[in-house]
Amino acid sequence: MSNNNPIGVFDSGIGGTSIWKEIHKMLPYEGTIYLADSKNAPYGEKGKDQILQLCIKNTELLLKKGCKIIVVACNTATTNAIDYLRNNYAVPFIGIEPAIKPAALGSQSKKIGILATKGTLSSELFYKTSMQHAHTISIIEREGKGLVPLIEAGKVHAEETKALLKQYLHPMIAENIDYLVLGCTHYPYLIPLLKTLLPLQVKIIDSGEAVARQTKAILDRNDLLSTSKTSSKHIFYTNSEVAILTHFLNDVKEQKEIKYLAF
Ligand code: DGL
Repeated sequence: MSNNNPIGVFDSGIGGTSIWKEIHKMLPYEGTIYLADSKNAPYGEKGKDQILQLCIKNTELLLKKGCKIIVVACNTATTNAIDYLRNNYAVPFIGIEPAIKPAALGSQSKKIGILATKGTLSSELFYKTSMQHAHTISIIEREGKGLVPLIEAGKVHAEETKALLKQYLHPMIAENIDYLVLGCTHYPYLIPLLKTLLPLQVKIIDSGEAVARQTKAILDRNDLLSTSKTSSKHIFYTNSEVAILTHFLNDVKEQKEIKYLAF
């Protein structure tokens, strides 16, 4: 595997672009290939086996395209499939999980909220992580049912999105949480709306920066960091609407190609 091969990133749709942006900020000279499996979103409502099959499909495509490392930029995919992927493919995999640990450590009220998909909240890995880091605090968890399809439709400021969020946040606010953990890579796009709905003292955290740091560390450990000193190529594939993916990448000024691909 050559150092200048791309980093592969996949998600059930556009959500993982929030992670891609953190990775690019930290590793500006790395080339990347992103897969938005929007045709199959949301993963969060699917069973473990189905999620696993979708992750295998995405992984094999990224490997065929020569990726040297794969970032599973989806909490639902990570919590259901990362062990299988690591045991069955030779490249390193970076996963993403809800940032329970920093929230648990930082919380004064000892109450934190977690918004994530059903697939993540019901996973064994999520259960283990919560037991490990949050046994001394209360976690108020809510499934963000319906949010991913709205975000995939670009409705990040819509009234219907606001109404759902109000409903999901209500029990957390009533319990006096001081941290809200975003356990789905689509949700960082809701931060502007979330800020209008949460009390000022509630801190919102996601795992994007931690994933970027880990990607850099693992590339370094495997001697796979790019040797390029200029910006590299970025290709984004979607198996649904190019316009939607383009919308979420409008703030990316680097050279990029956004294309439809049937996968
Ligand atoms: N972006 C995803 C996550 O982090 C998946 C959402 C979904 O497809 O349900 O969980």
